[in-house]
Amino acid sequence: MSDFDFESFITDIPDYPEPGVVFKDITPLFADANAMRQTVLAIADHFRDAGITKVVGPEARGFMIGVPVAMELGAGFIPARKPGKLPRETYFVSYELEYGSDTLEIHRDAIESGDRILIVDDLIATGGTAAATGKLIQEVGGELVGYACILELTFLNPRDVLATSGDQELFSLV
Ligand code: PRP
Ligand code: ADE
Repeated sequence: MSDFDFESFITDIPDYPEPGVVFKDITPLFADANAMRQTVLAIADHFRDAGITKVVGPEARGFMIGVPVAMELGAGFIPARKPGKLPRETYFVSYELEYGSDTLEIHRDAIESGDRILIVDDLIATGGTAAATGKLIQEVGGELVGYACILELTFLNPRDVLATSGDQELFSLV
């Protein structure tokens, strides 16, 4: 496990996007070349021997971290997008967030039989996004290996929600 101080690059923004929510801003981590590189390597290193064939990243911040992790693992990347953005036939899933609800879609042919999938996002709060994405992947025949994120909000107990879609590992840096 890396001893890099990832947390020092994450800023707390109180009452954003609504009163009572402390928004964790990861943009400073991505703005610093070394911090970004350490982040990508720390996640990829953890799953390097797990035989991952595809990384799935939820829009939008899951794209920022999912694509470089996929490249580092020699895996493909599948975007899980917000509704109406993907041009071909999709599967979709709806879920609750810390602030509101949303839907994600993936292309119907994005996951092939035998694919070993890692879901990567910047942050796991309630776990709703990750668990819903995990259920979707399993429903379409992918083997869900685990979840990875930069930051886990443990006080929201996301591991309880993730357990509803299986016993896959959740790896978080902070
Ligand atoms: C954020 C974050 C995760 C999700 C985590 O995305 O990037 O995807 O919320 O919350 P949860 O664990 O409670 O589901 P958001 O939906 O705000 O979209 P964005 O990446 O486009 O900002
Ligand atoms: N997504 C869900 N909850 C969040 C939070 N507290 N900060 C940043 N992104 C989030």
